[in-house]
Amino acid sequence: MRAIAIDGPAGAGKSTVARRVAERLGAKYIDTGAFYRALALKAREAGVSADDEEALARLWAESEIALEGAGGAVRIRLDGRDVTEAIRRPEIGAAASRVARHPAVRAAVVARLRHLAEREAVVMDGRDIGTVVLPEARIKIFLTASPEARARRRHAELAAAGYAVRFEDVLAELVARDRQDMTRETAPLRKAPDAIEIDTTDKSIEEVVGAIVALAEAQH
Ligand code: C5P
Repeated sequence: MRAIAIDGPAGAGKSTVARRVAERLGAKYIDTGAFYRALALKAREAGVSADDEEALARLWAESEIALEGAGGAVRIRLDGRDVTEAIRRPEIGAAASRVARHPAVRAAVVARLRHLAEREAVVMDGRDIGTVVLPEARIKIFLTASPEARARRRHAELAAAGYAVRFEDVLAELVARDRQDMTRETAPLRKAPDAIEIDTTDKSIEEVVGAIVALAEAQH
């Protein structure tokens, strides 16, 4: 399989790195967290609890979630509405992590992701891509960074998007979300045995992108 799987905790740089690797290799970038976030947003708006597995699975079946465009211009649509910015709200990240605990939800999302990867060369980022979604991916990367470095990046991103949040709150939210993602029973966040771990704490984005592109090119 031509896919590249990039997993890791929140704020490790996955989406920026995955997007640029995809651009360099002429592959399609797929942000898998966007599917859980879009479902979490819809559940909130519909008054469906993030604990109600059955209702969430039903909601997913009724929803149309699409990634449109390529490169830096990918837009996320939920039932035809552009929710690209709305799903980035910090509370939606936390809600997505709760929604993503449920096996029925994960099974539905994973089926959709596999279908997307069958059609073309993809770079997918998430939590379970190398372990569950695409275990046959030709390259698996596990990106990490210290919690402080990850919180600093997330804080800067949120500030740039106009959210006035405190660094301490971002750090606390990130640590709580990691704990939830690593300890859940279904597809917890963990490094696949054959994944290459890259600690991005003291690396530039370009360094990390370059290393992954070099790995991909070496396999041709
Ligand atoms: O990566 P992002 O912050 O957008 O993901 C939001 C949440 O969605 C994560 O905290 C995680 O709980 C869930 N997720 C997941 N599996 C993925 C991608 C995201 O469980 N492949």
